[in-house]
Amino acid sequence: MDIASQLERRIDVRATINTLKSDGFCFIEALLDQDAVAGLNVEFQKVFDELPLGVSMGTHPPGRMATIDTQTCDAASLPITHSVFMSSKYRIISEAMLSKGSKINDKIVMTHETKVMPISDIHFDSQRALKTLIYLLDTDVGNGAISYCKGSHVENSAYRKEFLSQGGHPLDLQNIVSESELESINLECVSGPAGSMVIFDTDCWHSGGCLENDTKERRIIRSRSKFAGQPPMRPNRFSPLWFRRRFNIFLPPPPFEIPGRERTRGTSRK
Ligand SMILES: [Fe+2]
Repeated sequence: MDIASQLERRIDVRATINTLKSDGFCFIEALLDQDAVAGLNVEFQKVFDELPLGVSMGTHPPGRMATIDTQTCDAASLPITHSVFMSSKYRIISEAMLSKGSKINDKIVMTHETKVMPISDIHFDSQRALKTLIYLLDTDVGNGAISYCKGSHVENSAYRKEFLSQGGHPLDLQNIVSESELESINLECVSGPAGSMVIFDTDCWHSGGCLENDTKERRIIRSRSKFAGQPPMRPNRFSPLWFRRRFNIFLPPPPFEIPGRERTRGTSRK
């Protein structure tokens, strides 16, 4: 069965949108069949081996990472990846979730984790986005299944809105959970067979998991659609944050200090 038919048969658009709005996360188990997963794995390997046009390598301590710029990468060079993330069905969901002017799936990232270390802290992203990931291997708590806290996007979005309205910069958001908050955060681990899809609002608390030993590996493809209307991540020249970054000088702290919280400063790792 072709990709479009699989998406058509397995994704209930209305139910997906409702779940995303209420829970911040939506899991579609075994969305893609074995042939589609095999095709995605071939393209995954091709990206790292051949570095097609529009692909760049990034630093990723738990393993390796490639970023695909969907504006410059030729769809014909990664047809299966393209047909999943650029499908009309997926576009309908994205448009319902994102504000007008948001770029849908401007980046697609492939990561291959092979080292035993936390893939990310428990955090929400500095810039709010709708992310979608597909497991390319059977994935559970032993090989880095993603975890999330259901419904936590509501509180974190409110904090973000208030912080930015008081003049804070997204890089100063305290987006790593504090020790004292851990008890009240109920993380659910999302296990599933290869071909399963997770769509989530990155304002939810989430964590990338960890490999339990060095015989394990994780392979995922994920896309990102940033919500429109957010301040730029690079501080404006001569702004207080620009001075702080450039000269490391003391300036008044940003608004809304939350005791015990830390910042990722734009990445998902410390
Ligand atoms: Fe994240």
